[in-house]
Amino acid sequence: MDRKENLEFWIRNRRSTFLNGLQPGGRIDRSVIEKLLDLAVWAPTHGLAQTWQFKVFSGSGLEKLYLKQQQIYKISTPPERFNQEKHDRIATKSECVSYVIAVLCKRDPRKRFPRQEDLVAAACAMQNMYLALQSFGIAGYLSTGDVCYDPAMRNYLQLDEEDACIGFLTLGIAREGYIPPERKRLPASEKTEWMID
Ligand SMILES: Cc1cc2nc3c(=O)[nH]c(=O)nc-3n(C[C@H](O)[C@H](O)[C@H](O)COP(=O)(O)O)c2cc1C
Repeated sequence: MDRKENLEFWIRNRRSTFLNGLQPGGRIDRSVIEKLLDLAVWAPTHGLAQTWQFKVFSGSGLEKLYLKQQQIYKISTPPERFNQEKHDRIATKSECVSYVIAVLCKRDPRKRFPRQEDLVAAACAMQNMYLALQSFGIAGYLSTGDVCYDPAMRNYLQLDEEDACIGFLTLGIAREGYIPPERKRLPASEKTEWMID
């Protein structure tokens, strides 16, 4: 495979692997996470603002994160919508999740560009990692949900007013033989208008 085909391959075959595709007890080496983070920072960034930031959770750090998510779910959900099973399931995630990388956007202190640009750069950093997962022999998905935007979670992640949590990149090892379901996309032509005449 030449270099161009290689890039196409990884873009076309990038897949989210959700919890049901992750192997219970599957553990990722810290060195792999470090390599992922090294790739993340090669994202494009206007004025080299480099507005991404990462918080990496594993072991007891991950258990504390899930405990926090449970507390937030409990406090922020009206009693009639509260689902005990959903609440309890949060804590069991760490059986098959080895690392969570919270991908954050820290607003450029000089505010040189619209906030949107700081967010886009951080999202690009997230995508660099998403694209690399399979080639590193690991699997996972980006998780957001209401908790991602909750003031208590923002506070826990030490986000200031104009910062943001892009999402929680939730990582483990794919179950042996696991084949992610086929995904579809609308053709690019349906999303494209050529302004050429
Ligand atoms: C901004 C963003 C937020 C997402 N949040 C969630 C989420 O909270 N839970 C989830 O299961 N998947 C989440 N995903 C992953 C999508 O479900 C996934 O990308 C989609 O199903 C397409 O599958 P693919 O990534 O394998 O192409 C999120 C993706 C993006 C880009």
